[in-house]
Amino acid sequence: MLILGIETSCDETAAAVIKAEKDEIKVLSNVVSSQVKLHAKWGGVVPNLAAREHLKNILPIIKISLKKSGISLKNLDLIAVTNGPGLIPALLIGTSTAKSLAYLWQKPLLGIHHIEGHIYANFINRDQESIIKKQEKEDSCLLFADHCFPALCLVVSGGHTQLVLMKKHLDYKIIGETLDDAVGEAFDKVARILNLGYPGGPAIAKAAEKYTHSTTSASRPPLLFKDGKGVVLPRPMLNSPDFNFSFSGLKTAVLYLVHPVKSKKNEEKLKDKEFVQTIAYEFQQSVIDVLVEKTLKAAKKYHPKTIMLAGGVSANEELRKQLGLAVEKNFPSISYKIPDINYSMDNATMTAVAAYFRWQKMKNKNTLRNNWKNLKTDAGLTL
Ligand code: KG4
Ligand code: ZN
Repeated sequence: MLILGIETSCDETAAAVIKAEKDEIKVLSNVVSSQVKLHAKWGGVVPNLAAREHLKNILPIIKISLKKSGISLKNLDLIAVTNGPGLIPALLIGTSTAKSLAYLWQKPLLGIHHIEGHIYANFINRDQESIIKKQEKEDSCLLFADHCFPALCLVVSGGHTQLVLMKKHLDYKIIGETLDDAVGEAFDKVARILNLGYPGGPAIAKAAEKYTHSTTSASRPPLLFKDGKGVVLPRPMLNSPDFNFSFSGLKTAVLYLVHPVKSKKNEEKLKDKEFVQTIAYEFQQSVIDVLVEKTLKAAKKYHPKTIMLAGGVSANEELRKQLGLAVEKNFPSISYKIPDINYSMDNATMTAVAAYFRWQKMKNKNTLRNNWKNLKTDAGLTL
């Protein structure tokens, strides 16, 4: 079965082709065009600019993806497109294009939830450009074998922060989520406060590199500014009895640390690399401490067989490492899965892979034939 995936929910225009057979999926092409440079000068994604860029790029990107895959159009079995959640002007370019192509080429069309795509990025083999065979190795068992369930997914992206429990494929129970800002959003806003530019996640991670250790912060003394004052940011909701998160207060705490130096005289201080690096490190570590702690707490309650990381923030090396170490130490029998770094950020392979699982389980596949007219785009789509 050949699936074309299309993704335009935020600032990446992406298309991919996968070949799915009973027990193997191959990624035939994975094309992503990022708009990061365009939005950097505005300090964040501007929805209408994103839509304009998507419109310019979507058809060439699909064309390149199809060409790279080497498939013939007549053999294409399904078009899969992210239809929410995301920025509505951006999403509409992807869904309108997919609907037009589905009509023109007479192909079935399936809408995919963006976060479902991120979760299914974990099912793409890390070692090669293919998803490996059923039960061939430990990594590969994830694809079809149900014994990776229940799975606990920590979803961390620009718009979402959730702990999701999956008892089986396509079955999601949100057991905790952010009450305010998403993790990626907090990274982006703190980077802005620190004059580190956009996108904030990689910029903070880079600035924090000098101080990063592969342990949680409990075991190390607080960092000190040059004047000898300690830098300790809060770990919001670390000990709350639920599995929810909150990051907006943390962002404000950073603002207050920087605020006294935001006056004219002290604006210079933000040019002090060490000052910025210290705050970047402490912020990142605070976020990681909370994410790790809450995930372990959920694991203790729900006894998952697998813990997965998903969403753009899963590209954060320290988070990948520290969560992995914590799982290994506290729950050695739980397997830990992270998406290949190429599939951490937005891409259309994950959309196509999730679509394959959905399609397989669908009883009435004929309805997909009418989706060129019926498919809805929903910025607030829920899992
Ligand atoms: O999943 P994604 O590509 O788009 C959304 O669905 O939102 O996630 C984008 C988010 C941005 O907020 C970006 O700053 C963050 O992921 N991000 C990172 C890193 N790389 C990207 N956050 C922390 N560390 C990173 N290395
Ligand atoms: Zn995303």
